[in-house]
Amino acid sequence: MAASFFTGLALLGTASASLQIVPGATWTASGTNQHVQAHGGGIISVDSTYYWIGENKLDGSAFQSINCYSSDNLVEWSFVGELLSLQDSGDLGPNRVVERPKVIYNEATSKYVLWLHIDDSSYGEAKTGVATSSSICGEYEYIDSFRPLGYQSRDMGLFKDDDDTAYLLTEDRKNGLRINKLNDEYTNVTEAIHLFPESIESPAMIKQDGVYFLFGSQLTGWSTNDNQYTTSTDLTGTWSDWQNFAPSGTNTYDSQTTFVFPVGDSVLYMGDRWISSNLMASTYIWLPLTLDGTTATLHEETSWILPLDGTWSSAGTTKTYEAEASDNELSNGAKAVTCSNCSGGKAVGYIGGSEEGTLQINNVAGDASGTTTIRVRYANGDSSQRYANVTVNGESQVLAFLPSDNGNTPASSTLHVSLEEGRSNTIIVGAYNDGWGPDIDGLVVPRE
Ligand SMILES: *[C@@H]1O[C@H](CO)[C@@H](O)[C@H](O)[C@H]1NC(C)=O
Ligand SMILES: *[C@@H]1O[C@H](CO)[C@@H](O)[C@H](O)[C@H]1NC(C)=O
Ligand SMILES: *[C@@H]1O[C@H](CO)[C@@H](O)[C@H](O)[C@H]1NC(C)=O
Repeated sequence: MAASFFTGLALLGTASASLQIVPGATWTASGTNQHVQAHGGGIISVDSTYYWIGENKLDGSAFQSINCYSSDNLVEWSFVGELLSLQDSGDLGPNRVVERPKVIYNEATSKYVLWLHIDDSSYGEAKTGVATSSSICGEYEYIDSFRPLGYQSRDMGLFKDDDDTAYLLTEDRKNGLRINKLNDEYTNVTEAIHLFPESIESPAMIKQDGVYFLFGSQLTGWSTNDNQYTTSTDLTGTWSDWQNFAPSGTNTYDSQTTFVFPVGDSVLYMGDRWISSNLMASTYIWLPLTLDGTTATLHEETSWILPLDGTWSSAGTTKTYEAEASDNELSNGAKAVTCSNCSGGKAVGYIGGSEEGTLQINNVAGDASGTTTIRVRYANGDSSQRYANVTVNGESQVLAFLPSDNGNTPASSTLHVSLEEGRSNTIIVGAYNDGWGPDIDGLVVPRE
């Protein structure tokens, strides 16, 4: 059976180096060298490539663009382009709310159909908007906005069933959460299917073995809460009582549902951890979600592996290399600095700048050769990103470093690299464009 064959591969996969998903870290996109700006988003796979479509929050909450990134492994993301861009006026003009973009493909019209929440800055319009394109990551033609069936609509999601019928999931503040059927072109709503009287937003649906799972968040603004789910074998009901899928009180591991996406034998939960004071610094809480019968369980992982075939696994053990360790080479002004919450109470600062301060970490062990994910622990007390040019065995890439909680508390930025087997790897953290890099606490490197 294909499933057991792939499970075998997955077990082999954990024994060699693998790319890892690190929830809550800075995820640098190639093409922009910045933290991915695809908040409130979703993923669609087209011809073995994954496209992640979400909101650009680089300059605050008002609409800037709907961004599209691509990946062939769900870990390394490249910026491709904007599906919708800022206009002079209208729904996509300045100071507008354009949120929760979701795309589904319509076989009959051969069009990608994008639905969004469209609003004014006071959230009074409460409408959905629709745009279409003949290419997934191309430019979309904006059609119109409206209140579906005349009702308020704020956070929304889409669901395409296995018979190609598609549905809008929409939060109607006055009445509850709605499931509405779309027309054949997926560009309009034709019929109310179900109304949940509960106050639930950010809806996301998936179907497994004939069971529909509908996930959503309670209404607590940008703050997180214990998100909930309900199941049914029929979209019209009967639906089960809403219940938590992460342990009560964890606020869904501090995230808000945006999308659920099947990958191999696993299900990827995509959540947003919004930083309301600095939205561009919001991180992505992607975690494995187990669906068993009618039960959904979210797993907390610091770092995990999601094979495209087979089943997810925890990332396993690591070795930490302290930046301030005496066998490292600090040059051009880089030096150890106090960092009270960093491991060992120290970090290496003054990386970059016009002197191009550099930290070189030698003899990093690669337990297995191949591509893996290193967590670069850093502190950045600024309110904007810092950057560094990171060179691993002669190959360079630019990493972004989001503001960390405060200058003394480290966060992680992910570095996806090829390590050589043995203790022969050299990692240099250096200047990018003469700007200051972050203070580096250390490197957390996977080992067997
Ligand atoms: C969308 O559907 C509504 C009723 O379901 C209808 O009133 C409206 O004219 C439709 N819009 C378009 C553009 O077809
Ligand atoms: C250390 O980290 C904790 C938890 O994140 C935080 O509350 C505290 O303010 C930090 N201490 C310093 C000195 O930054
Ligand atoms: C990064 O550093 C490497 C090695 O010093 C250098 O060759 C490369 O040009 C640098 N790249 C950038 C973008 O600064």
